[in-house]
Amino acid sequence: MAKPTSDRHQSPFRITCRELVVRPENKKEVPVIREVVREAFHPMPFSTGREWKLVEEIRQSPGYLPSLSLVALCDGMLVGHSIISLIEIEDKKKPHNALVLGPVSILPDFQRRGIGQELIRIGIVAAKRMPLPAMVVVGDPAYYSRFGFEPAVPRNIHMPFGFDEEDYLQVLELKKGALKGVQGVIKFPPSFFDEKGDLL
Ligand SMILES: CC(C)(COP(=O)(O)OP(=O)(O)OC[C@H]1O[C@@H](n2cnc3c(N)ncnc32)[C@H](O)[C@@H]1OP(=O)(O)O)[C@@H](O)C(=O)NCCC(=O)NCCS
Repeated sequence: MAKPTSDRHQSPFRITCRELVVRPENKKEVPVIREVVREAFHPMPFSTGREWKLVEEIRQSPGYLPSLSLVALCDGMLVGHSIISLIEIEDKKKPHNALVLGPVSILPDFQRRGIGQELIRIGIVAAKRMPLPAMVVVGDPAYYSRFGFEPAVPRNIHMPFGFDEEDYLQVLELKKGALKGVQGVIKFPPSFFDEKGDLL
């Protein structure tokens, strides 16, 4: 996650919600979520333009966890979405099940109002109820450290071969001490890749 290079796509008006509701997504919301993800990432210089597709691929995959795919409704309008799904951390062929957070998407006019933080915090509370040791995220440490994420490499958790985003790879221990003995290379499921093998 980086700051947008220009504000050209962003309205000067930022909207505050009287009522903010965060809850699991439902099937009818899929087309709206697609647009929210598209619009959120559109101004970002690092965007692949395909984050919406990644969300949809995850939703169709065995790693999809319906209760951890959340929407944020601002006065009834769907303005944000976050998804947490299953991955593995593989150590010498021994797989450890774990979670990955992202993409997280807030409509530009609704950014920097605490909605992203609310979605992520509620997602983490739900993730902590799962019998899994850790959740990883690939994103800006300046943002994700506030939720307790820490750099993954000192914990001996690495990106797969050929991916150089290690500075952005962070991990959150879901229960105290749960990461002990969990190390290795992240194994993203096929839903995370396009037909050329690039991350979506
Ligand atoms: C990143 C994102 C999810 C954060 O959600 P949000 O509701 O805008 O953020 P919040 O209001 O909860 O938090 C505000 C904090 O986030 C940081 N932040 C928000 N938007 C940011 C952006 N575009 N770039 C860098 N930092 C950003 C700010 O530093 C701010 O910190 P502060 O409280 O110290 O000022 C949202 O801005 C977004 O959808 N961005 C585009 C897509 C993206 O980059 N997704 C994350 C990568 S998966």
